[in-house]
Amino acid sequence: EIMKNLIPFIAYLIVLSCQNSKSDVDLKVKNLLSQMTLEEKIGQMNQYNGFYDATGPAPDGEDQKIKYENVKNGLVGSMLNVRGVDEVRAFQKLAVENSRLGIPIIFGFDVIHGYKTVFPIPLAESASWDLDIIEMSAKMSAKEASAAGLNWTFAPMVDISRDARWGRVMEGAGEDPYLGSLIAAARVKGFQGSDLSSYETIASTAKHFAAYGFSESGRDYNTVDIGMNTLHNIVLPPFKATVDAGVKTFMNSFNDLNGIPATADKYLQREILKGDWNFDGFVVSDWGSLREMIDHGFARDRKHAGELALNGGSDMDMESYIYIDHIKELLDEGKVKISQIDDAVRRILKVKYELGLFDDPYKYLDNEREKNITGSKEILDATLEVANHSIVLLKNEGNILPLKKNDQKIAIIGPLADDKNSPLGNWRTAAENNSAVSVLEAMREYKGNKISHAKGVKLVNKIPAGFHEEVSINETDKTGILNAKKIAKDADVVIMVLGEYGFQSGEGRSRTNLDLPGFQQELLEEGYKVNKNIVLVLMNGRPLILNWHNENLPAIVEAWHLGSLSGTAISNVLYGDFNPGGKLPMSFPRSVGQLPLYYNYKSTGRPGADGEDAGSVFWSHYQDELNSPLYPFGYGLSYTTFSISEISLSSDEFSNGESINASVSVSNTGNIKGREVIQLYIQDKFASATRPVRELKGFETVDLEPGESKTVEFIINEKLLEFYNGDNKWVTEPGEFNVFIGNSSQTTNSTSFNFR
Ligand code: GLC
Repeated sequence: EIMKNLIPFIAYLIVLSCQNSKSDVDLKVKNLLSQMTLEEKIGQMNQYNGFYDATGPAPDGEDQKIKYENVKNGLVGSMLNVRGVDEVRAFQKLAVENSRLGIPIIFGFDVIHGYKTVFPIPLAESASWDLDIIEMSAKMSAKEASAAGLNWTFAPMVDISRDARWGRVMEGAGEDPYLGSLIAAARVKGFQGSDLSSYETIASTAKHFAAYGFSESGRDYNTVDIGMNTLHNIVLPPFKATVDAGVKTFMNSFNDLNGIPATADKYLQREILKGDWNFDGFVVSDWGSLREMIDHGFARDRKHAGELALNGGSDMDMESYIYIDHIKELLDEGKVKISQIDDAVRRILKVKYELGLFDDPYKYLDNEREKNITGSKEILDATLEVANHSIVLLKNEGNILPLKKNDQKIAIIGPLADDKNSPLGNWRTAAENNSAVSVLEAMREYKGNKISHAKGVKLVNKIPAGFHEEVSINETDKTGILNAKKIAKDADVVIMVLGEYGFQSGEGRSRTNLDLPGFQQELLEEGYKVNKNIVLVLMNGRPLILNWHNENLPAIVEAWHLGSLSGTAISNVLYGDFNPGGKLPMSFPRSVGQLPLYYNYKSTGRPGADGEDAGSVFWSHYQDELNSPLYPFGYGLSYTTFSISEISLSSDEFSNGESINASVSVSNTGNIKGREVIQLYIQDKFASATRPVRELKGFETVDLEPGESKTVEFIINEKLLEFYNGDNKWVTEPGEFNVFIGNSSQTTNSTSFNFR
């Protein structure tokens, strides 16, 4: 009885202590802010890229000297691309031990899919539809990155995109806002953990705010022009999900949105993010995006860009040097307000306090921990688990897969078969080059078969570009194809490992052509002429055009860029040691001409379905291609089979405050254990704004032994039916709804209900 009465009081104390620690931080921030000079405040808003090896002698170049002095005088709030305990310590000491107030620097880095141990690219990870392993992946990446002295990652990238021409689709969670929102939240929780002050957790960043994934024609950095309906129903939900998950920072995007560069977009950054959503972290610009407003033709000069950015709600300037150079003048001229500066600095200091950097600026800096954590078995095991779950089986006719483990002659062919670099993907910034396990190496681990190998098409033409030496799939020399044909002819099974090299997707890597680059297709078709038993293993950072492959090949495995243990995961799947269960987070088109292509499309006033005779040409379709994707969102096969029952509803109507249950029974009808992802889609048939023909509103991954069945149940309530309507409001409207439950976005297993 006593305990029962005590519980509310204990709960009150817990809430009070959380609020105390929150208001305690706010008080400390307020107190520190009151001691800071204007120059020191502006310094916190200034972020530099690492500009010299701080473990070496002080720099002597003119501009580097200025930067060095600024760090020493506490005029640099943050640095990026400084990593490794020794180098971070050197910069931190320079600032903390020399500046007047000793304010610690926050060190950021692109921990996008792992740090030194590389995880699958985010698009691959999203194909797992497994929120637990996605959270674990971020947690392990944070553990390794924090051991290198880092406190902040510029991830998760949560840009929804429907256009595979855009190279950065590799970095996100695909085309759907519901899946994208859950993945975004899982990644934030993984990076930040339950205690941000722990030296194993790091602050995360929701980026790129906003609508960068809608860059026109899929061309990176291009203009974006979308309406409020798409902005609020598709683009913003994953960002809101990160705020609800407690994300500490946002990064704005390079693009202009409806005529306003995001860096200066008050509607986005002040009205929605800091206003409606009450976000209390800070906004960092993307690299040089303040300065780029001059190129946008939006800022007259650098000073004007600074005025626009601060008024627009950007708190920290990454590598434009505009805030540090011009904010004081702008304040004197009344172009910006001290309240804006104080608010920006307050937000930045708050994150530093929450990270524990004021308690101990060197808390992330332990050489022993760096040595023990980096590349540890725990982290390698994690990346393998994520890689296994990221693989999507697109085709497996005649059960050519899984391969037999003995007495087989297996030819492994292709430029990516022995490639130890491409599997690391694009954002492998801290990894050693050529550190991935290749397919060839991993397949050779299975000693029961005779393995032969030929590149067929070599990786040549080293193109020095950006911060990584790049190679391009050979465009000139195809002499290797002959030799490849020879070993293909002689094999029982051919494993063709083809796709994009690691830097063929990612930032600045848009493509207008989504075929296999170079002579890979010719290599494949030449091989097919002498042996039809080909398993195509794809390594790519975006959907590709696979019509010929789907038409002719018995098996296709979508293996993306899976990171450090890529080859190990692929061989696990090829030999059946892991039964693939991934589902596509993005539609695979039949033609580039279909893009942008997505499953949650609008009906239009002239709807129609592929293959049906519409009786005339006057419906929404192409003369020369179907409307549907080759492989749809949510699609993926398994080595076993599943059956899904019809949908049963607890009721066929409900109203405000109520809900109904929709359930199916799913059975493993095959003879090996496997995973199915049961997906719930809802269609709002009539509303005050046009609505998609269906939208993902729930999913559950189910692991079943052979013969095992399980009931999967979804709760449908008015929250699930909410949408942003023509009056710019979030509403749930009464009406009739269709519900679909199945194993891809094309499921026809449906029924309907009424919301009164
Ligand atoms: C890049 C990217 C951004 C990244 C930043 C720092 O240009 O757009 O995603 O976090 O610069 O590397």
